[in-house]
Amino acid sequence: MSPLLEVVGLRKSFPTARNMFGRITERTVVTDDVSFTVSTGETLGIVGESGAGKSTIGRQILRLIEPDSGSVRFDGKDVLEMKGRDLLAFRRRAQMIFQDPFSSLDPHMTIRNAVGEPLTIHFGIRGDERDRRVVEMLERVGMREDQLDKYPREFSGGQLQRIAIARALTLDPEFIVCDEPVAALDVSIQAQVLNLLLDLQAERGLSYIFISHDLSLVRFLAHRVVVMYRGEVVETGTADELFENPQHAYTKALVAAVPNPRARRRPATVRSTAVELEA
Ligand SMILES: Nc1ncnc2c1ncn2[C@@H]1O[C@H](COP(=O)(O)OP(=O)(O)OP(=O)(O)O)[C@@H](O)[C@H]1O
Ligand SMILES: [Mg+2]
Repeated sequence: MSPLLEVVGLRKSFPTARNMFGRITERTVVTDDVSFTVSTGETLGIVGESGAGKSTIGRQILRLIEPDSGSVRFDGKDVLEMKGRDLLAFRRRAQMIFQDPFSSLDPHMTIRNAVGEPLTIHFGIRGDERDRRVVEMLERVGMREDQLDKYPREFSGGQLQRIAIARALTLDPEFIVCDEPVAALDVSIQAQVLNLLLDLQAERGLSYIFISHDLSLVRFLAHRVVVMYRGEVVETGTADELFENPQHAYTKALVAAVPNPRARRRPATVRSTAVELEA
């Protein structure tokens, strides 16, 4: 079976110095020759320290920024070559959830409009039909109908992340890049949001890229893990393999840094971990 997403040799550099005429004199490579695949229904974890290039990978895949070279194939099609209708269809099928839900939502837009807007843009759905779908989606993520006309500032971080998830899901995507989706939330809320993501994956057969600097978190969520260090993939394997037999010095350091020895043991289910996290 061919993978849903196939990333080969992705490279991105940013200009880091210019001369007095504004010409670029130096570029820093932030992702170099990054390759991996994601299958349908699979979660691929990407771990690495701050600045390793994790978010830059997610943004290149979704074409929020353009890579210098490499290829991205989604469902067999070349994402980097997509234009017009193909690109719009891809933007419906592939979504992103960000670390900071407050900055990912427009502060001047009510929740009704924030969650409903993609339906209008992609399908021209408006009015009652749009509201019906928005309410259904919001209820699915644990929000209430009477919150529809509130603004982002009226919600907590955890509620905002649920709303951002609802917005990402209204178009019924197949693939979501979750970029540190719980890192900005209180520990007590993290498990709820993670469980929501897991439940949605099970219901809808979603594929995820789950970005985190926390290897123990990734272990519970991801089927396979890519370890990035300074822009490069240094190791790939199942989370268990990486924990039990890390090869690269950086992976060894990550494993050693997991503070709670209980977190090194695999629990019976993810849900039991979530309870641990919540406790
Ligand atoms: N638009 C940009 N212009 C210049 N440099 C950039 C740009 N975006 C990212 N970088 C640099 O690229 C490197 C990788 O950044 P990236 O945000 O992908 O890291 P990350 O692994 O997601 O880190 P974090 O865990 O802190 O989110 C960093 O050194 C960053 O400063
Ligand atoms: Mg990042």
